[in-house]
Amino acid sequence: MQGKLLFKGQAAPKGAAAGANTKDNNRMEEETKTEELNNNLLPWVEKYRPNKIEEVSYQEEVIKSLQGVLLSGNLPHLILHGPPGTGKTSSILAFAKQLYGPTFYKERILELNASDDRGIQIVRDKIKKFAQQVVSKNPDKSFKCPNFKIIILDEADSMTTEAQSALRRIIEDTSSTTRFCIICNYITKIIEPLGSRCVKFRFKPIPLEAQITKLEEICKTEDIEYEKEALEKLIKISNGDLRKSVNLLQSASTLYEKDIKVEVIEEISGSIPDNQVQKLYKLLIGKDFDKLKEGVKQFLYQGYSPDQLLYQFSEYIISSKDFNEVKKARILEKIALADKGLNERADSELQILNMFSSCLSVLQNPDTDLKKK
Ligand SMILES: Nc1ncnc2c1ncn2[C@@H]1O[C@H](COP(=O)(O)OP(=O)(O)O)[C@@H](O)[C@H]1O
Ligand SMILES: [Mg+2]
Repeated sequence: MQGKLLFKGQAAPKGAAAGANTKDNNRMEEETKTEELNNNLLPWVEKYRPNKIEEVSYQEEVIKSLQGVLLSGNLPHLILHGPPGTGKTSSILAFAKQLYGPTFYKERILELNASDDRGIQIVRDKIKKFAQQVVSKNPDKSFKCPNFKIIILDEADSMTTEAQSALRRIIEDTSSTTRFCIICNYITKIIEPLGSRCVKFRFKPIPLEAQITKLEEICKTEDIEYEKEALEKLIKISNGDLRKSVNLLQSASTLYEKDIKVEVIEEISGSIPDNQVQKLYKLLIGKDFDKLKEGVKQFLYQGYSPDQLLYQFSEYIISSKDFNEVKKARILEKIALADKGLNERADSELQILNMFSSCLSVLQNPDTDLKKK
């Protein structure tokens, strides 16, 4: 912070009166305070968004390629695809900052996401207009700053086929002035003629260790106490989505005063304590219908989400060593049917009871069940 003040102080005009200097310094101190306050109010996903591509975790191939572009200045059109919260948006934004530098960054980037209208009209008007503008080469010597702009179309899954077709023409016509970066979760939602004009990079779900490193860094900066198992639990719930992990961590630390325990994570994430799921599992393999029915009812009275139960229970079944693969497949089929029922708004208690009794019949007589299919 002091460095910042000193720097700003130095920028004051030479020979300024001492009074003016103090005034200036006070104003700057105020500004810095406001900046810090704003920074503290920022959601952590923004506060801890990587500023340089080197800070993006676990996507080495993409990062290496982008680093190559920073040196050469040759950028093809890109498609970044992969599950949410894996660093797609962060990577391209950090890359653009490093390519253009702070002065030209804003001027040379057009970023549109799902909340902006990107129907055919916008593609024809706004995107086309921006794409056609010519920019000069290397106006900022300390950065590569090549003579093209970048249009980032984030969350492009939601663009209609017509809008994508219109985009294809624009890409062809404006290649000398503009590069496009299309970001989506599912590459299959991008029409082939568009896909074939871009270099594709796949972002992978971020594994436990890489997420732990990032969350531990945040905890250290924010001065948060944590149990390692709590972070592991949180990451497991997030399923490779680092945005979700960081958001959960922030909620937990806000609600529970910077002390992150396993129970806290279970509570705020709506996940069911392991011992509850284990109890139901044991009742199932105990193969006593009445006891199972009673156990399921007691469980449901506690108000846990039935969807969450299906998810956690299926994980239990997948990793179970108590029965063979065929039985596992049959049971998972029953879970999937209950899930379908719940999605179609069937009565949750009946669905869950039905699922457990069907699983029981699979366990009691799997061979008959096999023949029936
Ligand atoms: N690979 C990553 N490395 C570092 N932080 C990440 C990574 N992926 C996600 N994050 C964190 O999650 C937030 C959301 O990431 P984002 O790039 O918007 O994900 P996506 O665009 O893939 O959905 C970021 O602000 C950052 O805090
Ligand atoms: Mg994104």
